[in-house]
Amino acid sequence: MESVSSVPRAPGATALLGHLPSFLRAPLAFLRGLPAHGPLVEIRLGRKPIVVVCDPALTRSVLVQDRVFDKGGPLFERLREAGGQGLATCPSGEHRRQRRLIQPAFHQGRFPGYAGIMTERMDAILGSWHDGQTLDLSVEIRKIAADVVISAVFGTSLENGIHTRLATDFDTLLSGFTRHSLLPKPLRKVPTPGNVRYDRATKRVRRTMTGLVAEYRTHGAGDETNLLSMLISARDPESDSPALTDEELVDQAVTMYSAGTETTAGSVGWALYLAAVHPEVLGRLTAEVEEVLGGRTAGWDDLPRLTYTRQVLSEALRMYPPGWFLTRQVMADTRLGPYSLAEGTTMAYSPYLISHLPALYPDPERFDPDRWIQRGRQPQVPVTVFGGGARKCVGDEFSLIEGVLLLASLLSHWHVDLHPGSLTLPRLPQLTLNPGRMVATITTRGRRAPRADRPDQVAL
Ligand code: HEM
Repeated sequence: MESVSSVPRAPGATALLGHLPSFLRAPLAFLRGLPAHGPLVEIRLGRKPIVVVCDPALTRSVLVQDRVFDKGGPLFERLREAGGQGLATCPSGEHRRQRRLIQPAFHQGRFPGYAGIMTERMDAILGSWHDGQTLDLSVEIRKIAADVVISAVFGTSLENGIHTRLATDFDTLLSGFTRHSLLPKPLRKVPTPGNVRYDRATKRVRRTMTGLVAEYRTHGAGDETNLLSMLISARDPESDSPALTDEELVDQAVTMYSAGTETTAGSVGWALYLAAVHPEVLGRLTAEVEEVLGGRTAGWDDLPRLTYTRQVLSEALRMYPPGWFLTRQVMADTRLGPYSLAEGTTMAYSPYLISHLPALYPDPERFDPDRWIQRGRQPQVPVTVFGGGARKCVGDEFSLIEGVLLLASLLSHWHVDLHPGSLTLPRLPQLTLNPGRMVATITTRGRRAPRADRPDQVAL
């Protein structure tokens, strides 16, 4: 008979806080160190034990058995406060029905249309920037990503005031998210300024989305050209009543906004940052962009020729996958590899950890877009960066198209001089692993001041 072992515990836990101090001090280094202790490793974040999967095959087993390893654990408990029971957060029992309703919005045939929306929005926003302007690229890239998702979900560009309010509230949610997920419930309820801000932002995001859904029901539905109109017209095959209530529509709108904005923005932000600190990569990237686009905004037809841009994006996704630490709940006593796991165990898988395994990606700390040169039908995406199994990211293709178009278009229109003091590596990663401030001065391509005039800046 095969022997069943219990999961080893990572060394270095303190009595009261477990591994929390090491996790908070340097979370990425902490994760990189875990595989040395086994394919499954138990850590303690405060009082909560969490079993982290450190092996690619076992990660896959967790992802494909989505009824045994269901969405749950501290991450999804917090996400449900804002996103309710939308596609990304609902339990597996509800998931198949929702996925069937939403999947057609991400069907291959829709991508040229979405790419058209992306090009139009990027053209408008990149064209509104000024020669010599200094801006925080993290903020601006996120605005574009939010605009694109909202346009695809609501079929219209979002009014400026609403956009600003949503962006500010999501900022508050995302920046307080990790801390809030780790705090025990009684401490989350203490009315500290941080907790009050977090609760208010959660409520306001839902209120804003409720207003948008109501307005859409009155003025916008009918043409089924975007996600929300498709969902509004969807009928339950048995009762022929609307498939989703207003509350459920709000859940989906919040889910798409939060799942589709920070993630894509992070991948483009990291790609720009990594190119800035690797001049050889930057040279090849800008040469491709100039040759393919000649100064214009990228569109659907350009995608097959933007191959190096795609490689840079894939490598940025590997180095800093936006979804970096995702939790699950074990629903029934089970086995995983040689280990037994009890019902109720909290699990986590980490696309970051898997993307940094030397067995999969030799010399994993090296930024090397040539890892992703297309060879045959090999996938061009790092494993698990978009999850897997039935809960795999529904927006994966959407975001890769958007990422390539945005990275190429930005560099096609603008020279970017990133101020070195603003190049930030992640401090405490939040819900997504995004770069911090990226302050840059932009100049129209072809009219950039000579490098010697700007000795204190890094040019993109
Ligand atoms: C670089 C960009 C993106 C990355 C890295 C990413 C990553 C992920 C990951 C890792 C998951 C699985 C989460 C888990 O296993 O718990 C996921 C799920 C999901 N993502 Fe994405 N995502 C990206 C972009 C998008 C976009 C653009 C959208 C929507 C427009 C989107 C919508 C969703 C949804 C709705 C789910 C839940 C799917 C389900 O459970 O059926 N994502 N994403």
